[in-house]
Amino acid sequence: MWSTCTALVFALVAASSFTPAYVLELCQNISPECHSDHNTASNSQSSSHTVKSKWTLNASSLMHDLNQFRVSCKKLLEALPIDKDDGNFVRTVKNCIFSKSIPTPLKGPLRLTAASKDVIEGILDLDASVTRSGDFLHYASGGRLLPGSVPLAHRYGGHQFGYWAGQLGDGRAHFLGQYSNKKGEVWELQLKGSGKTPYSRSGDGRAVIRSSVREFLCSEAMHFLGVPTSRAASLIVSEEPVLRDQFYSGNVKAERGAVVLRLAKSWFRIGSLEILSQSGEINLLRKLLNFVIDEHFPFINPDNPEKYLVFFSTVVNETAHLIAQWMSVGFAHGVCNTDNFSLLSITIDYGPFGFMESYNPNFIPNTSDDEGRYSIGAQANVGLFNLEKLSVALIPVLTQTQQKQ
Ligand SMILES: *[C@@H]1O[C@H](CO)[C@@H](O)[C@H](O)[C@H]1NC(C)=O
Ligand SMILES: *[C@@H]1O[C@H](CO)[C@@H](O)[C@H](O)[C@H]1NC(C)=O
Ligand SMILES: *[C@@H]1O[C@H](CO)[C@@H](O)[C@H](O)[C@H]1NC(C)=O
Ligand SMILES: *[C@@H]1O[C@H](CO)[C@@H](O)[C@H](O)[C@H]1NC(C)=O
Repeated sequence: MWSTCTALVFALVAASSFTPAYVLELCQNISPECHSDHNTASNSQSSSHTVKSKWTLNASSLMHDLNQFRVSCKKLLEALPIDKDDGNFVRTVKNCIFSKSIPTPLKGPLRLTAASKDVIEGILDLDASVTRSGDFLHYASGGRLLPGSVPLAHRYGGHQFGYWAGQLGDGRAHFLGQYSNKKGEVWELQLKGSGKTPYSRSGDGRAVIRSSVREFLCSEAMHFLGVPTSRAASLIVSEEPVLRDQFYSGNVKAERGAVVLRLAKSWFRIGSLEILSQSGEINLLRKLLNFVIDEHFPFINPDNPEKYLVFFSTVVNETAHLIAQWMSVGFAHGVCNTDNFSLLSITIDYGPFGFMESYNPNFIPNTSDDEGRYSIGAQANVGLFNLEKLSVALIPVLTQTQQKQ
């Protein structure tokens, strides 16, 4: 087991040769080294292969008690409407951006398998030792709600594999709240694999260990490769059986459920706007756009009559830059549907992604993507396709002259 753990560390270090190994702690509760204590400033100085953190780690200013940790949902709840229905039953949802949805706790003994020290300390202001507490296991797997949290599932739509797919939404993820850190940054916390929501369609709301490990490792690796991405704070595994047909071969096997605590400055996607435009909810479309612009595009003057065009051209430019960065590290996302493309142009939704071993534009990470729609070489064109869908979604809020531009 220890060797698997070491192999994973090496996988990450290999993916990012300038990443110090300490950013990632992969844990086993049977191993005494698991929660090794190189998390305080004095210890990190004495350890030969740990490097001083770039944010000048001050252990005494980090929170040691999770009860001091607060998130807030106020801003989103005040600005954006919530589904009138409650409860995790699958339904078509209209006239709102979020549905309230309580996570379903993972069953069985829980185990913290990995935590990103860089995220825990550098973003969440928590001393890494809190990840060892029972409280953390429950908070980070959906068993208990963080103070201030009103868990929400986001309603969005999207174009999947070229076609409008209607309502999609967070089918196995829960937004927990925003955390404002010491650096003045605001991060949105989300659990993935935390159970059913109104948007689960036929899904079970769970994620298995294999896909969760991939998301955890790759989002942290991408960050240290310098590629804009969502981040992963922790990975909690359980004994809860989750049925999956890994190769779509009709061979269903029981795997184990896991939950990743992940973070982004915003989880809004192209599909977040598309569903409002498609269903004619134009006032809500304008409201969400204004919210996204106010919160995340501060250089756009809210009184500028051209603001939606400025917004669009910013997203076009940044998405182009993002895809260029993917190409520069040989990253193939694998499912570039419009619902998996962030409005902040960060990499989100790590599914069947892969890294190209040697240059091959036909490299396809999803083994079932027979047509190679999302091959690595197609990513720029697919990005263009998705941005065109964004422009279509914006048409209802543009003037006639703006539409032609
Ligand atoms: C570390 O943080 C504590 C509490 O915020 C503060 O009193 C102390 O001066 C800081 N130390 C350094 C070296 O910045
Ligand atoms: C385009 O985006 C990149 C990356 O975010 C940025 O460095 C550059 O200044 C942007 N260019 C324009 C014209 O906005
Ligand atoms: C990406 O998009 C598809 C549908 O468009 C969705 O089913 C999937 O969950 C998304 N994320 C990943 C990681 O594939
Ligand atoms: C892989 O591609 C196939 C065919 O397009 C698609 O049905 C499937 O959902 C994709 N896999 C994932 C995990 O997105």
